[in-house]
Amino acid sequence: MLTSGSQPERIEAGTGKMPRHVAIIMDGNGRWAKKRMLPRAMGHKRGVETVRKIVRAAGELGLEALSLYAFSSENWKRPEDEINDLMGLMREFIKSDLDEFAANDVRLKIIGNYKALSPDIVDMLEDSMSRTSQNTRTTLAVALNYGGQDELVRAARSAAAQGDITAESIEANLDTAGLPPLDLLIRTSGEQRLSNFMLWQAAYAEFWFTDTLWPDFSKDELAQALSEFSTRERRYGGR
Ligand code: IPE
Ligand code: IPE
Ligand code: MG
Repeated sequence: MLTSGSQPERIEAGTGKMPRHVAIIMDGNGRWAKKRMLPRAMGHKRGVETVRKIVRAAGELGLEALSLYAFSSENWKRPEDEINDLMGLMREFIKSDLDEFAANDVRLKIIGNYKALSPDIVDMLEDSMSRTSQNTRTTLAVALNYGGQDELVRAARSAAAQGDITAESIEANLDTAGLPPLDLLIRTSGEQRLSNFMLWQAAYAEFWFTDTLWPDFSKDELAQALSEFSTRERRYGGR
């Protein structure tokens, strides 16, 4: 049984191996709203509440890093109204939750080409990153205007400008540089694809899929994914 409290909780099943870095493709907000005959914006709003819960849970469960796919470089294909709703929610979320990050020792990192977002959002994100830069308990990496292919192109260009292109030099220039290696990748809503997320980082990550729509995802289900992770045997090509 999991107990609540601020100390990292034990995952009992399996061998007890805990992932250091979990990434989540938070999918299914639109379908959650549609099922209830609500506007899509309501699904996104409920999705932000789940983000809040899961960030807390990540700290309680003792994760070093949690990466959340919030807006992809392909999500610009959506109608302008929906993009505006998502950007508005992003602004609100940072404003309302920054103090809690500070209090809970959460360091905020933004991955993706966030500098192409509106100048007010860029300023707010940079201010929030610098305000939380000394925090060490959990790193929350929010992927905004993120695409794995775009990240790799940018990383390869930087690596070439610095010298040789090698696996190490590319890795050192990824947006995720400095985070622990990706251990576990979760996707909600029943889809089983990467949708351009963490292409490089997923090389030896374990995958875990659930039909649960993102607004219904919970700490218990995250704990279930961690528990299953602890039973997986990772070989990295060896034997
Ligand atoms: C995920 O929910 C949130 C974003 C991609 C921003 P969706 O909006 O993709 O929800 P579905 O997939 O249409 O249900
Ligand atoms: C992936 O979900 C992007 C995010 C969760 C932010 P999408 O809903 O955009 O992915 P596809 O289009 O179904 O592949
Ligand atoms: Mg989707």
